[in-house]
Amino acid sequence: MKNHTVGTSNTSNNRPFRSVLAALHSRRKVLRGGLELAAAAFFASSPTLALAAGKGRGKARRGLMDFAPLPAAGGGGPMPRIADDYEMQVLIPWGQPINPSAGPAFNWPPGADEQAQQVGIGHDGMWYFPLDPGGNRGLLALNHEYGLNNHILGRAPTSLADVRVSQHAHGITIVELENSNGQWRNVDSGYARRIHVNTPVTFSGPAASSPLLQNPAGNPPQGTLNNCSNGYTPWGTYLTCEENVHFYFGDPSSTFVPTELQARYGFAAFWAFFHGWSQFDARFDLGNADFANEGNRFGWVVEIDPMNPSAPPVKRTALGRFRHEGCALTVGRGGRVVGYMGDDEGDEYIYKFVSDKNWKALRAQGKSPLDHGKLYAAKFNEDGSGEWLELSIANPLLAAHFNDQAEVLIFARRAADIVGATPLERPEWTTVGPNEYVYCSLTDGHGEGSILRWRDSDHHVGTRFEWDVFLIAAETEGTEAALRAPDGLWADPDGRLFIQTDGRGQPGGINDQMLVADTASGELKRLFEGVPGCEITGIAVTPDRRTMFINVQHPGDGDPTLTNFPEEYDGVTIPRDATIAIRRKDGGIVGS
Ligand code: FEO
Ligand code: CA
Ligand code: CA
Ligand code: CA
Repeated sequence: MKNHTVGTSNTSNNRPFRSVLAALHSRRKVLRGGLELAAAAFFASSPTLALAAGKGRGKARRGLMDFAPLPAAGGGGPMPRIADDYEMQVLIPWGQPINPSAGPAFNWPPGADEQAQQVGIGHDGMWYFPLDPGGNRGLLALNHEYGLNNHILGRAPTSLADVRVSQHAHGITIVELENSNGQWRNVDSGYARRIHVNTPVTFSGPAASSPLLQNPAGNPPQGTLNNCSNGYTPWGTYLTCEENVHFYFGDPSSTFVPTELQARYGFAAFWAFFHGWSQFDARFDLGNADFANEGNRFGWVVEIDPMNPSAPPVKRTALGRFRHEGCALTVGRGGRVVGYMGDDEGDEYIYKFVSDKNWKALRAQGKSPLDHGKLYAAKFNEDGSGEWLELSIANPLLAAHFNDQAEVLIFARRAADIVGATPLERPEWTTVGPNEYVYCSLTDGHGEGSILRWRDSDHHVGTRFEWDVFLIAAETEGTEAALRAPDGLWADPDGRLFIQTDGRGQPGGINDQMLVADTASGELKRLFEGVPGCEITGIAVTPDRRTMFINVQHPGDGDPTLTNFPEEYDGVTIPRDATIAIRRKDGGIVGS
């Protein structure tokens, strides 16, 4: 999301990452030979040592990214551009009916009932779930992070009906896609559904029955909010991650004073006048004692089974509550499922979840691997090592502040403050690449953004790691593949890293973009450029990786004088978030 509040709610004295990094750099100057040896020992199985030791950017391996890169020249225009070896297709813009023949067709501004049957706004994280072996038919689960009222409605809301339009434009879309001769479209489907903030949900895991998740009003849990990035599980479900949920709560009477823990999560009376929900929907009114704990019900990772349209979304409390950007899952030693997660605000933490047992064994017992495990926060040391600090009520430091594990999870940010985790410069997407490397974009890292990388001990499940910085955006300035503010990331199994940008003005005056990096050589090429005012976010691929889906989010920031992307739709001139299907013209793997 582009419109973050600058600054921090972190009042801990934990040593920030920028200080750790500065110390590492000065140690490197003094001890260059010795450190490179240490790094060489740890990174021995990987060719990335050249990068880690600062030896510069080489050429990509042959065949890895042979496409002719999209030049910066000619950029900054009102419509997207793609590299010459590629073709693109726009699909499922905001307002597209999820069942095309059932409608209703897009009509601006939409009504609340219409919007609930249409694709939402603010396309973000997503994943593709194939329905046939070739992957030419599948379900796309797609997050709708946010839309502003001046874009959705053309004005501030004046009624609960207006608020419902905004509420229905947020959430998740599941649509069925079909590829016919390289052309994708969404088709009528029994799987198609919308999930939004009024959809019934359930809580699971250690905090599920906590009184802190119950209101005096007794209202059952409903909805998911500000769905940013995502994850996908080895058992075929979708994870959607709730990020800036505090924006939807507020106090129209401006008298509410947050508790210290509410303030740690950004809740404040004045947000009543941002999305405006709390002015007309009591559930979001922080000053309404009947709904005192409603805010605690948001900020979670939520699991959705796209293949079971009647199953409610499940909030997995074992993964902690914070401003979840995304959740990259992998399988570690012993078949344990491991999730890496960023908390996107200035001076926030990186977390990891490790299931207690083999995920298949847990599922065979009817248990969710995401309900049984440990949550950790990362601490970075100035010698290039790091530690995962467990957030457990068994730790006396945490027992002194919290009553039980449920409280530790509901206030995971504060727990991470207490154990001494390292505050970072806006950790956004995470992804797991080859050789067990985990990448995380720090969208404010080194000022213009950076990408951090680490590798855990014991095949992802250990509590030690070694880290370095994979990419510093400022160091790309003056090159043809320059970028700022890396955000969306996805590593493919061949060692490509797809990098999407969000804001800050891209070098050379181009719009936000997607590039591809060779994780071994560090070579970077631009593949795609978006439109003015947008960010590029969300990555999903078909199983053969011959199609990649990405999103153009908030084109023109809603301003039709900047762009009317995608203009070919219905003669509608307001810019609309949309998904782009990307294919190589020769049918090759996307990124090659
Ligand atoms: Fe949803 Fe931090 O971007
Ligand atoms: Ca961002
Ligand atoms: Ca983001
Ligand atoms: Ca975003």
